[in-house]
Amino acid sequence: MAKDRTLYLCRACGGSTPRWHGRCPHCGAWNTLEETVPAPEPPANARARFSALRQGLAAEGTLARLADIEAADVARTPTGLAELDRVLGGGVVPGAVVLIGGDPGIGKSTLLLQALDALQRAGLPTLYVTGEESGAQVALRARRLGLGDSQMPVLAEIRLEAILATLRQQRPAVAVIDSIQTVYTEQLTSAPGSVAQVRECAALLTRAAKDSGATLVLVGHVTKDGALAGPRVLEHMVDTVLYFEGDAHSSFRLVRAIKNRFGAVSELGVFAMTERGLKGVGNPSALFLSQHREPVPGSCVLATLEGTRPLLVEVQALVDAGGPAPRRLSVGLERDRLAMLLAVLHRHAGIATGDQDVFVNAVGGVRIAEPAADLAVLLAVASSLRGRALPRGFVAFGEVGLAGEVRPAQRGQERLKEAAKLGMAVAVVPKANLPRKPDAAFLRATEGLTLHGVERVEEALEVVR
Ligand code: TYD
Ligand code: MG
Repeated sequence: MAKDRTLYLCRACGGSTPRWHGRCPHCGAWNTLEETVPAPEPPANARARFSALRQGLAAEGTLARLADIEAADVARTPTGLAELDRVLGGGVVPGAVVLIGGDPGIGKSTLLLQALDALQRAGLPTLYVTGEESGAQVALRARRLGLGDSQMPVLAEIRLEAILATLRQQRPAVAVIDSIQTVYTEQLTSAPGSVAQVRECAALLTRAAKDSGATLVLVGHVTKDGALAGPRVLEHMVDTVLYFEGDAHSSFRLVRAIKNRFGAVSELGVFAMTERGLKGVGNPSALFLSQHREPVPGSCVLATLEGTRPLLVEVQALVDAGGPAPRRLSVGLERDRLAMLLAVLHRHAGIATGDQDVFVNAVGGVRIAEPAADLAVLLAVASSLRGRALPRGFVAFGEVGLAGEVRPAQRGQERLKEAAKLGMAVAVVPKANLPRKPDAAFLRATEGLTLHGVERVEEALEVVR
């Protein structure tokens, strides 16, 4: 007799192993494997899947030269929320599946309710499926958002089969499932929110969307304790992955594209939370600069890039006498890079922080991953250590290498233009980012900004001496 096959699935990454481990062999997360008995796949289902796959391919598998294939520009429908459209690459695409992940309470439901309502008002049939709140709760939220008269259809349901039936019947152009972790199918015995359920439900919903040409938006919670299967389990299945993030204590919310088959990734949409919902922030730079009346030590404005968009962010550093084991802590910036920068500062500029606690923070809850933040971090640290503020209206960017060299950053001129636009006065930037022969347009765009091109960290520190 065939033994029942048991499989262990990871809640974090969805990887499977035949045996239980304390640590997932795929993603290295601890304690995330859960036992599942894989349902034997009915042949009809398998055949349906195969034919669905085939549909997406050319009918007869004809061979064509890439240049001869007509590149169909996908039709997009703007959602009416400009900041959301920016990350989506212009709007929602028919048949596309979008996953929106984020911590509970960050504002996913609010964002989607607003977007869906705007689409409904624009004349598109929509459907909002809620598994987390009752219809009455959704209505209450809509009233609070000033959308009390919304014609948007709402379905409070968690059974997958019922949701699929409604999708077939109503044929919405855009449907939101809030959240995928609450949906379950009776075909599987595992609990809602388990990897097997989340994966299977998402797969069936995705197929329904592809078949009907509807845009499907799946909401996925990220949970720290891993009690629910995370959105990462689904990332490879969907066309677009957005993450909704923000500091719980700040009212700003960022939507970031992690993956997008229909647009550029790492685009950023910025929203402010208000009593009446999320409002797009057209000029986010102003938002991440804290307003000091006088320049203070340890603060440096960084001209960073979010996607293709230049953004000014204040980087703060605090250097203070540490104990026997000095701490290096960073919020919003990479800690390993901070340690490296401190070593560069010591070795190449003779500024020692070995016995000091060093804290750095990117204001406003932004996360900065690009190495072009190096120079600003380094100058903020030096400024805090010296107890001397950087000049008024000071801005910097540039990658710092282990040899103390300052390397150019992408789109340097656009960063400088943004800095000038926001009234910055002094910029210390990689020399290679300055045009050799500045043309009239560049001079006009950076008017009022004194530019210092540097090749080494020592030079940068000399400018702000
Ligand atoms: P919610 O959209 O329910 O978050 P999620 O779906 O990600 O769990 O938002 C959480 C709470 O914040 C909710 O009580 C409403 C409130 N909120 C506002 O008051 N204004 C806003 O702009 C947003 C986004 C949320
Ligand atoms: Mg919600």
